[in-house]
Amino acid sequence: MQPSDDPADPYDTSSATVSPEAAAHLIAACAFSEEERTAVYRAIETRRDVRDQFRPDPLPDDLVRRLLEAAHRAPSVGFMQPWNFIMIRQAETRERAWQAFSQANEEAALMFEGGRRAQYQRLKLEGIRKAPLSICITCDTKRGGPVVLGRTHNPATDVYSTVCAVQNLWLAARAEGVGVGWVSIFHEDAIKAILKIPDHVKIVAWLCLGYVDELYDMPELAVKGWRDRLPLDKLVFEEGWQDCEDL
Ligand SMILES: Cc1cc2nc3c(=O)[nH]c(=O)nc-3n(C[C@H](O)[C@H](O)[C@H](O)COP(=O)(O)O)c2cc1C
Repeated sequence: MQPSDDPADPYDTSSATVSPEAAAHLIAACAFSEEERTAVYRAIETRRDVRDQFRPDPLPDDLVRRLLEAAHRAPSVGFMQPWNFIMIRQAETRERAWQAFSQANEEAALMFEGGRRAQYQRLKLEGIRKAPLSICITCDTKRGGPVVLGRTHNPATDVYSTVCAVQNLWLAARAEGVGVGWVSIFHEDAIKAILKIPDHVKIVAWLCLGYVDELYDMPELAVKGWRDRLPLDKLVFEEGWQDCEDL
C-alpha cells in the first residue's frame, strides 16, 4: 500500500509505530519444541467425541477450572467473549435434559428412511446421564453492546467465537484424560426452560464430561459405519471453488 499524502488520513498506517506500552507486551514467539509440538498434535488427533466411556468418579475442581480457563482463552470477535459456562452436576437436572434429548432423538430418527433409520436408532448419541458433569456453553448475543468490532457484517461471529471456546476445552480435556461428548439433539427452548436461559442467549453446546480409560481410535460414527472421514485432498481448493459434488 502506498503511503498517503494526507496527514489526517485515518486509514494511513504506513508510519504507524508501536507505542512503548504496547511494545512491552511483545514477547518471543518461536516454534514449540518437537516434544511440545508432538503433544499438541496428539491432542488434536486423538480427541474424540465420547458418548459411553465415561467413568462415574467426579472430576476434581482444579482440573475443571483448567478446562474452563482453556475455554476462556479462546479467540472471540472484537474480544467479545460471549460465552458462559453453566455447570450441571445434579442428576435430576441431567435427567430432565436427557428427556429433552430423548424426545428430539425420536423425531430425528424419523427423518431417516428404512435401514438408515434402524442404523441411526442403534447409535448412542449422548452421555448425559452417564457422565458425572455436564457443561452448557452459551453465547450472549448482547455482550459488548449493540455494535461489536468485527461482528458488524456477520452477526453469527459471536457463535463462531463460542465454538472456539468449546474446541479449546475439548482439546485441553483430551490432554487431561477427560472425555467430552457434544450433544446437540434437543429443542433449544426445552433446555433453555430447564436452565432458565434468557431469550437473547443462545445455547451453543451441551457437553458431557468425565474421566475415560478408553477412546475409539477413529470417530465412533466411522467405527459404526455411519460415515467415513473425507479425504483431505478433496477439500483443499486452489485459488477458488472447485467441484466437490461427490462428497
Ligand atoms: C456442533 C456439533 C454437534 C454435535 N452433536 C452431537 C450429538 O448431538 N450427538 C453425538 O453423539 N455427537 C455429536 N457431535 C459429535 C460428532 O458426531 C463427532 O464430532 C464426529 O462424529 C467426529 O468424531 P470425533 O469428534 O470423535 O472426531 C457433535 C459435534 C459437533 C461439532
